[in-house]
Amino acid sequence: MEWIRTHTCGELRNTDSGGDTILMGWVHRVRDQGGILFIDLRDRFGMTQVLVEPDGPVSFEEARELKREYVAAVRGTVRTRPGEMANQNLPTGEIEVVARELRILNKCETPPFVVEDVTDASEDVRLQYRFIDLRRPVMQKRIGLRHSAMQSAREYLSSKSFLEIETPLLVRNSPEGARDFLVPSRAAGGRFYSLPQSPQIYKQILMVSGCDRYFQIAKCLRDEDLRADRQPEFTQIDIELSFTTEKQIFSIMEGLMNAIWKGTVDREIETPFPVLPYNEAMERYGSDKPDTRFHLELDDVGEMAGRSEFRAFRSVIDGGGTVRAITVPGGAAFSRKEIDSLEGTAKTYGAAGLAWTRIKKGKLDGGVGRFFDYDDFVRAADANEGDLVVLVAADWKVALTALGQVRLVLGKRLDLIDPDQLNFLWVNRFPLFEWDVDGKRWEPAHHMFTMPYSESIPLLESDPSKVHAQLYDTVLNGVEIASGSIRCHNPEIQRRIMAVVGIEGEEADRRFGFLLKALSYGAPPHGGIAFGLDRLIALLAGVDSIREVIPFPKTTSGLSLMDGSPSNIDPLLLKELGLKIIED
Ligand code: AMO
Repeated sequence: MEWIRTHTCGELRNTDSGGDTILMGWVHRVRDQGGILFIDLRDRFGMTQVLVEPDGPVSFEEARELKREYVAAVRGTVRTRPGEMANQNLPTGEIEVVARELRILNKCETPPFVVEDVTDASEDVRLQYRFIDLRRPVMQKRIGLRHSAMQSAREYLSSKSFLEIETPLLVRNSPEGARDFLVPSRAAGGRFYSLPQSPQIYKQILMVSGCDRYFQIAKCLRDEDLRADRQPEFTQIDIELSFTTEKQIFSIMEGLMNAIWKGTVDREIETPFPVLPYNEAMERYGSDKPDTRFHLELDDVGEMAGRSEFRAFRSVIDGGGTVRAITVPGGAAFSRKEIDSLEGTAKTYGAAGLAWTRIKKGKLDGGVGRFFDYDDFVRAADANEGDLVVLVAADWKVALTALGQVRLVLGKRLDLIDPDQLNFLWVNRFPLFEWDVDGKRWEPAHHMFTMPYSESIPLLESDPSKVHAQLYDTVLNGVEIASGSIRCHNPEIQRRIMAVVGIEGEEADRRFGFLLKALSYGAPPHGGIAFGLDRLIALLAGVDSIREVIPFPKTTSGLSLMDGSPSNIDPLLLKELGLKIIED
């Protein structure tokens, strides 16, 4: 007789007592307690205790056949556990199922690790055996969280008249910042498609097509160096709107964040989010994605440093640089080793060093203290007895960035961060271009499809460094969760922007001709944004790495350990594609 599952392993309660049930799931564990045998049967929904009674219809020999992670079916009767036997930690803990019949649906090799939330398996083993790793309840929860977040986003955006529209995965090579992944075309030998780094150009074209409001839960593919918060293949909640403004986008997106937090963890978030212009974010926190859950802001001590005896600082100031400081309350107690480690952080981010001194017994104690006048120094650094002041002298960006990173280390070291707090904010008014020191050229700071502020447009050719644009990021607790802009819908201004980054004339037409053409056929003013879904889920789940919330992620070297990709290709296939591998 074919068995049909009647309940999941998380479903039965006291009220089901006395009834019949057929459960199916994985054997979590078999506990042989002398005269009695328990089987814990598990599925996505939970765990149920199955009891094999001595001299009952199921023999112990039969039950002992079941090993960890075997797939089994049990037919039996639901029974209330005697009061003291109830397990309060398990939703099904009030009952157990007394087995009348057992079936093995499938066997399992000895698993490389146990299916428990806490595991000592290495990440490599977990990725290789991802099919088992994903059985762990904590991973099931994260998959569920991802689902709920996507559903909440879909529901909210649909309610605001956004249409979910797909865009192609095989597109023209037009890199947006990172390298493209390429796909050889068999039909058009020697030519390649690219995999899209984002649907950016297509969503803009959808605005030209009159779609008005678009969204997509879109796969993006970028051949770039990976980190804990970067994958070569990741997901965006990608959004574009016509006839809009930055203000309107902020408000709709705040609603989206609220819908997602409400729909996943039932938490109301505070809106509107504070707005911090890029310059202010850098000046105060040394970061364009500041973690505002703690203060410890940067001070400009340049004037004081310029008056001081300290030649190293004065020469930086004379060279157009700046001196910034962080005053660490109570930091005078830091050991030399701790200060050295902070200096290590500053150097990693480009500073030549980290100067320091302590405020102790009304004196500047140690480090560079002897070069400064006490009163002038404590006033400029806003320092008090018992504090430590750390300083970086460098050009604006390096000084701020290096101290910004030191600030983050200090925030953790001093335990200033409340992990429960949700500090959303907008950072806007970014510069449109950044000077690439190595390549000696201007690069888009984010991407070049952005409308500069009208007062910046005349500066496009004369002083690109002063061009600011309607670019904005959403930041949550120090993580950039989204990025967007009001687009350049004017093809002439778009060409001028492309020219600044060295894409001129024919090259602009060759690489972006289809966009420029679309813009010249009645493009409405438009703008948009894209949220990094993986980063959102990682924050919701409280994990540091997005690999923990992506069902099948790649390693930091871009490998898929489960299927062994990327892999070698059959020479015949290469031939068909007209490709030859050059051995290095
Ligand atoms: P951007 O490149 O800033 O913008 O990406 C938007 C958001 O996507 C997330 N993100 C990533 N997540 C995981 N792995 C990666 N490699 C990765 N790269 C980016 C981040 C980021 O904020 N088309 C524009 C958006 C727009 O202007 O509308 C774009 O892709 O959370």
